[in-house]
Amino acid sequence: MQLFLDTASITEIRTMWDIGILDGVTTNPTLVAKEGKTFKSVLREICELGVPSVSAEVVATDTDGMLREGRDLRAFHPSIYVKIPMTAAGLKATKILAGEGTRVNMTLVFSPNQALLAGKVGATYVSPFIGRLDDQGQEGLELVREIVTIYRNYHVATKVLVASVRHPMHVVDAAKIGADIATMPFAVMEKLVQHPLTDLGLARFLKDWEKVPKG
Ligand code: G3P
Repeated sequence: MQLFLDTASITEIRTMWDIGILDGVTTNPTLVAKEGKTFKSVLREICELGVPSVSAEVVATDTDGMLREGRDLRAFHPSIYVKIPMTAAGLKATKILAGEGTRVNMTLVFSPNQALLAGKVGATYVSPFIGRLDDQGQEGLELVREIVTIYRNYHVATKVLVASVRHPMHVVDAAKIGADIATMPFAVMEKLVQHPLTDLGLARFLKDWEKVPKG
């Protein structure tokens, strides 16, 4: 499974990129707003690191505006995936952009039928927001299960990008279900690395090593 960071923070991205475990980055207007920089300068910094998949969202809500912004983003850097919201206008824009060879990440997906439609119009990624469904008392991972089953049934090429990930168990379960990608905040990715028994074991090895005669 590919691991993406859901952030616009260049510091966070650089940290995981340098470790070598990062496959991509997803941003959204909320995340970009936190950085206090222009959208394009944030995107430039991320793309220049060499991250191969960088999702950047349009803010227009009509098809023409989405097409204009989507084409502009695509031209900005080859690593850009254009993020388009799951609306009727968004489906229309996605179909046109995908036909032009632009890779689209259909976002704000909350039902299996929406995912079915994203596949139909040729989105490269579909992004179910699982944490936000959990917040509503509906199991977000069940949606991922349904999408994976539907895509397998019909050999849909669209990749399932699990978004709105809140904790490491979301990542484990998404991997068990067979999702293609999970995008997560920095704090969650950090937790994938750590385990208290690893720290304890390492401390014990180092302590015992001191008893080994040197020379
Ligand atoms: O990838 C989508 C993400 O940014 C939304 O996460 O935690 O705001 O639901 P959250």
